[in-house]
Amino acid sequence: MRVWVRVTAIRRKTLCLWLLLLGFTLVTLALSDLFNNRRPEHSHQKPGPPRRPLQRIPNAPDLEVIVDSRDPALELGVDLAPLKSLQEDQLLFVLSTQGTNNLPRKKGSYKVLLPGANKDSRAPAPLTHDKVEKVAQLQLEAMEGDVGFSAVHKYGFNEVVSERISLHRRLPEARHPGCLGEQYSESLPSASVVICFHDEAWSTLLRTVHSVLDTAPKQHLQEVLLVDDLSQHGHMKSVLSEYVSHLEGVRLIRSNKRLGVGGCRTLGAARAAGEVLVFMDSHCECQKGWLEPLLERVAQDRTRVVSPIMDVIDWQTFQYNATQWPARGVFDWRLDFYWESYPQLQDKDPDSAVRPVQSPVLGGGVVAVDRHFFQSVGAYDPGMLLWAVEQIELSIRVWSCGGTMEVVPCSRVAHLDRQHLPYSFPDQEQLQRNKIRIADTWMDAYRKIFYRRDTLAHFIRQSESPNITERLRLKKSLGCRDFHWYLTTVYPQLYVPQDRPTLSGELYNVGTGSCADYYPRRPGPQGGSMNAAPCSGTGSQHCDLNSEFEVRWGPMGALCMDASGERVILSPCPAHRPTTSRLQWKFIKLSGQLVHQQSQLCLEVAKEGSLTQSSPRDVNTHTKTGALLLRPCTHHPRQQWHFEQLVAPKGA
Ligand SMILES: *[C@@H]1O[C@H](CO)[C@@H](O)[C@H](O)[C@H]1NC(C)=O
Ligand SMILES: *[C@@H]1O[C@H](CO)[C@@H](O)[C@H](O)[C@H]1NC(C)=O
Repeated sequence: MRVWVRVTAIRRKTLCLWLLLLGFTLVTLALSDLFNNRRPEHSHQKPGPPRRPLQRIPNAPDLEVIVDSRDPALELGVDLAPLKSLQEDQLLFVLSTQGTNNLPRKKGSYKVLLPGANKDSRAPAPLTHDKVEKVAQLQLEAMEGDVGFSAVHKYGFNEVVSERISLHRRLPEARHPGCLGEQYSESLPSASVVICFHDEAWSTLLRTVHSVLDTAPKQHLQEVLLVDDLSQHGHMKSVLSEYVSHLEGVRLIRSNKRLGVGGCRTLGAARAAGEVLVFMDSHCECQKGWLEPLLERVAQDRTRVVSPIMDVIDWQTFQYNATQWPARGVFDWRLDFYWESYPQLQDKDPDSAVRPVQSPVLGGGVVAVDRHFFQSVGAYDPGMLLWAVEQIELSIRVWSCGGTMEVVPCSRVAHLDRQHLPYSFPDQEQLQRNKIRIADTWMDAYRKIFYRRDTLAHFIRQSESPNITERLRLKKSLGCRDFHWYLTTVYPQLYVPQDRPTLSGELYNVGTGSCADYYPRRPGPQGGSMNAAPCSGTGSQHCDLNSEFEVRWGPMGALCMDASGERVILSPCPAHRPTTSRLQWKFIKLSGQLVHQQSQLCLEVAKEGSLTQSSPRDVNTHTKTGALLLRPCTHHPRQQWHFEQLVAPKGA
């Protein structure tokens, strides 16, 4: 069923002109005094937000905005499951009817946009707000952490602070001095910046849009394409249409189905006119001069997919934090993505500060890709729902099927890293299903390594198969290389576990019935003390005693079991062979002892209480039974271990 709510192009153009004319007149004559925080060179091209009620032109927003009601799921050939969280929303909607008079305590700056202009369209807002608060509350109760104000609850960042910050703020210069003198060709390709959003906060969404408009050279910016992925918040509807209609070069498309990031970006790509697509998250801020270096790299090689350095906006203070270069994107065997800084590379070569670096994966925050290459390589996998890991799929595919990926250091864009997700997956399993698609489509036999480290995915996979028929056909028709090639050529830094039977799995302690565990106080490669904790069964405690006698830990396999005095710790594994004897362990199957080779002491779970004596600072909130210590070998059950395989070696 296809319904087109689209005004003919000619009529739209005529009325566009009218509206622009009116917009300009009103904005320049009546409201110009209110825009003193904008940069003067932009005051003509980009009418800013109206701060006073505008005379409402009948139907005007609809003429400015393409409301695309065609069913994109049909277009993409996917059967999209209905979003379960919508049902939850509806339940909460009923619960909160008493909130009709209870206007939201705090709203976005959209409140002053249309006071009284259209009461009807704003009427459901209190309900929407309430139910959002409730959903956020429920999510927050499930979270650890002690942040206690509702602005953070709603979006996962401090919206109050965000609203006090100008939509046109300038970021402090963070580019390397070598970048500032770079000259770029006048004939760079044009860019369409595609920004997908779902219930983004007003201030962060608009700061993203204005940031692009304020930084991208006009001659290179074809358009900013906002794609609304079925937002539910009231302010994302008519008020946004109205606002966007006053911005030159910005278009708004709405999907009438929840598409998720991949599907939403693919929809945007299909409507984009620029030669290069720049996919951007809806809570970003661009550093001056960010676009040109990206366009240049793509223009030089149309199969190159590029990302800026992703700087960080602090979710609490909105402070801008520059990311250390060099950085690249990586993923682990649970198919989780990370940006990894590795400053050690910098010293060797002074030019490296401005030279792009190839990256096994790119994050989803900002990605620039030639429009035709993007389409020919298969866009985003339409079978991926909601978000997360679609950028890993795209990355493996681009590399395997003839493209390359790199981070361009002279381009910087800051991304708001949320404290938590403002909306969650309808169920946790959705994430696993997306990962299963990657594993089964791209990882060949290596997918077993993934399934051992994500047992939930393994069990889902046992009871259902992903429909990857189309993706396998694509892979074949593009002549893509296999995962072994990808691992050896593109991402040789990823440790490939051996996962030998009886020498890998959860390290189970007979005396306590618990498992060896590590709970990082800070995520990162530095490691720390190991403990015993209840066995998780999820694959998160998986380790691998390899033929080098290292006990490799974690989904990256980059941490090695090590000793510091009597404490057993994890430390970064050496990059080169042979490994040091301090990291070598021998497993005696008969006795179940795990012997540290250098000291010839045995791995033991400490008795309750002995931990606090040795180092009280190590006590954290994570559930644990006791520290892991090195002790003279005995046959005590606290020194008896075996590797428990959760997923049979043949698995998946
Ligand atoms: C940003 O930097 C400040 C100070 O250096 C630090 O306290 C803060 O945690 C950083 N925020 C993020 C998100 O990295
Ligand atoms: C899988 O998807 C293809 C099209 O993408 C469709 O033709 C086929 O019927 C689907 N198979 C199953 C088992 O649903």
